[in-house]
Amino acid sequence: MKPPFFPLPTGRAALVPSVLAADFTCLRDSLAPVKKLADWVQVDVMDGHFVPNISFGPGIVSAVAAASSLPIDAHLMVEDPGRFIGAFASAGSGLITVHAEALAPGPCLKKIKALGLKAGLALRPKTPLKRVLPYLPLLDLILIMTVEPGFGGQAFMPEMMPKVAAARKLISGSGRGIWLQVDGGINAGTAETAASAGADSLVIGSALFSAADPAALLRGLKKKI
Ligand code: DX5
Repeated sequence: MKPPFFPLPTGRAALVPSVLAADFTCLRDSLAPVKKLADWVQVDVMDGHFVPNISFGPGIVSAVAAASSLPIDAHLMVEDPGRFIGAFASAGSGLITVHAEALAPGPCLKKIKALGLKAGLALRPKTPLKRVLPYLPLLDLILIMTVEPGFGGQAFMPEMMPKVAAARKLISGSGRGIWLQVDGGINAGTAETAASAGADSLVIGSALFSAADPAALLRGLKKKI
């Protein structure tokens, strides 16, 4: 098992398939072509309140853990993440991300760290970067959403790039090893845009799992970013 969320030796951005876009009739087969090329996988959890969609619970983390040895990042797009952190940790998540706009992000981040996991904080497109400042000492990852959270297959929001660049500056100035993750509308073209702005973890869902050859897409991306 790769050490969870290791700094990449090559300095390239981490590639993170979003399981939301995988084929759930055959999850193991869907992950097979990408699991040797991806750096970790993301499970998008939606509660129908924080976002207008419902996706899945901790059981999918266990299923993904059984289907691949990749570290798992649980992105909790839920109103009250504190209620679910323990379950997602026990199911096999190595990193759990909560939203700055959800209930009690500070106590949630502390709970994630107390469990020995990596902690991430996500921002909706409209939420200003400054909302991460009070939590910076707790963070292993900042997620800048480049779509409105809730659904895969949406168009990338290039207007988020100044926020990504500002987050890169904030992280570099913090002297801490914090991943800068971008999620939403990532494909071969937008991956370069996001990486050039400073992102070093790219979540890719529909562009990957709808590709004729997902492995070739990841190999190509690794050369570009
Ligand atoms: C939105 C989800 C999606 C997903 C990636 O709430 O977080 O952004 O992970 O989906 P694609 O790559 O299809 O935009």
